[in-house]
Amino acid sequence: MPSVKKIGVLTGGGDAPGLNAVIRAVVKTAHNASIEVIGLEDSFDGLLDPSRTRRLRPENVTGILRLGGTILGTTNHGTPFDYPADTPSGKVDYSDRVVETFHKMGLNALVVIGGDGSLGIAHQFYLKGIPVVGVPKTIDNDIVGTTSCFGFDTAVAFAADAIDRLHTTAEAHKRVMVVEVMGRYAGWIALHGGIAGGADVILMPEIPYDLEKVAAAIRQRDSFGAKFSIVVVAEGAKPVGGSVTIRKAASAGFVERLGGVGITVADQLEHMTGKESRCVVLGHLQRGGGPTAFDRVLATRFGGAAVELLRRGVFGKMVANNPPDIVPIPLGDVVGRTKTVPLDYDLLK
Ligand code: F6P
Repeated sequence: MPSVKKIGVLTGGGDAPGLNAVIRAVVKTAHNASIEVIGLEDSFDGLLDPSRTRRLRPENVTGILRLGGTILGTTNHGTPFDYPADTPSGKVDYSDRVVETFHKMGLNALVVIGGDGSLGIAHQFYLKGIPVVGVPKTIDNDIVGTTSCFGFDTAVAFAADAIDRLHTTAEAHKRVMVVEVMGRYAGWIALHGGIAGGADVILMPEIPYDLEKVAAAIRQRDSFGAKFSIVVVAEGAKPVGGSVTIRKAASAGFVERLGGVGITVADQLEHMTGKESRCVVLGHLQRGGGPTAFDRVLATRFGGAAVELLRRGVFGKMVANNPPDIVPIPLGDVVGRTKTVPLDYDLLK
């Protein structure tokens, strides 16, 4: 087995608090093992053009632990295997070019920090012969095989804080406040954020909602003197027999953009209950800012574990949180699957 002397690291997909903490851990762990690290900019685009790469030494990652975003940049559209282009098919496959650049740069392995999309691309490159290790990232917490992804705790803490703030104004005005949170396919943020913030109703993708039941719950609260209600709704929630609210349809390289279910729910509840209702969309505020202490620690453990796997010549894996351990699981077991909230989850019951 050839020893790993030089590795690339990239961040792909939507950003999540903790990406920089992973990069920092990768660089520091690699440095301790005398492995050189090259940072690749804007996801796999950094493997197309060597001018979009840079050497990362410990001094280049000092002070980034607490920063949100990613010093390497990211993108959540397009895959090198199916990239939107001005061709008759509207697409181009430049994956061979990526493999070529990888070898030309003298890289021996790659750390891909990303969500389901980027980990899927990483797996495809692994099958094409690139030694890869994946690090799971998403505030939605919907990657299978890991109990948590960094970024989730930060998003939940932000949502809970927002709900706390909304309680006081909801109570003062005796209103219904609808809080739309992220969560395309899974209601983890809605459920954990809602429970932590003491929400009265939580609507999530796993359980299609019936607004009659929500209105009844609000009326019941009114009847015992609680004249306000907080309703948390995940962006991917849908009514019974209905579909998700799409702001922009999918197009070449772009998944459909969700959003807007909150205002629909607020308007309908106002009509049904006669109570003034407002909607607040937390949106990208949930992804912005620095990571919580939990996410910093998890991200650091992930980064260290990823380099440790590469150093030992273990490829095609994703590092996963399986308390109290960080364990490797095959990327092939992860891609194309979604970890939704189980209906027998104690918190849900
Ligand atoms: O996957 C994380 C996520 O935050 C989803 O919940 C959301 O639908 C999506 O990213 C939005 O991404 P963007 O607006 O950056 O394209």
